[in-house]
Amino acid sequence: MQLLDGKLVAQAVKEQLKVKTADRVSQNKKRPHLAAILIGNNGASETYVASKVKSCEEVGFTSTLIRLEESITENELIFKLNELNEDFDVDGILVQLPLPRHISEQKVIETIFPTKDVDGFHPESVGRMVQGLPTYFPATPYGILLLLEHYKIETKGKHAVVIGRSNIVGRPISILLNRNDYPGNCTVTVCHSHTPDLAAVCLQADIIVAALGKPLFLKADMVKEGAVVVDVGITRVEDPSKKSGFSIKGDVDFDAVAPKCSYITPVPGGVGPMTIAALMMNTFKACEAKD
Ligand code: GUN
Repeated sequence: MQLLDGKLVAQAVKEQLKVKTADRVSQNKKRPHLAAILIGNNGASETYVASKVKSCEEVGFTSTLIRLEESITENELIFKLNELNEDFDVDGILVQLPLPRHISEQKVIETIFPTKDVDGFHPESVGRMVQGLPTYFPATPYGILLLLEHYKIETKGKHAVVIGRSNIVGRPISILLNRNDYPGNCTVTVCHSHTPDLAAVCLQADIIVAALGKPLFLKADMVKEGAVVVDVGITRVEDPSKKSGFSIKGDVDFDAVAPKCSYITPVPGGVGPMTIAALMMNTFKACEAKD
């Protein structure tokens, strides 16, 4: 069993971006700029956005963090997004999800210009991804592709089983793994809460992407010997032994599953850091597109 070390690969991706950014700046080209909007005080969202801003600093991007009150109206948020859309210096716009209940996620996503949609959530970005056209891939699926690519994992002709069908991970990774490219060319099965005998489907998989958000869901008896397992779960579970009061659990019962795998991602240190590296890649591309 070999670990798919997202922390290490994310660092390598960021090192490359740091060099390319310094190169751009030395040629008097524009420095990439990410604007991130954080609404309210969701602890997990605070942590993710802080990591995104820190990564911008590491690679030499400009970042703008806009913190807004939970009580902000949808119209006020849309107004802010339109300002960022019109601001030439801003290359990528990210609104951290989830949003307060009184704000329509769909409306917010559709307000961001597709040219600045570094989260890849706009219907135009998703449509382009489905049709195999150049676009921004959502950061988590893109990060998974970068990880598979780094470890040269064969995907052609393999059976990938994706557990979960969210717009952020399950649905887009299922599309990307069966595109006619590398990584891709898998036969993909998407499982979800209404899939009968999910264990039997998983047992047929050469590659499993667990993205359902249920801690320790994937057990050893659901995994074929030699499978590649990618764990997207990052649920906070109460843990009085930790100073923070919680620990992060993946969707995979790692200790039991790992001995059966050819490759597996740890949690933390697997997909999480790759998501951020992929976001940095998208922001760099959004900046380059303006050259
Ligand atoms: N919330 C959970 N994942 C994501 C993500 O990839 N992007 C944004 N903007 N919010 C999220």
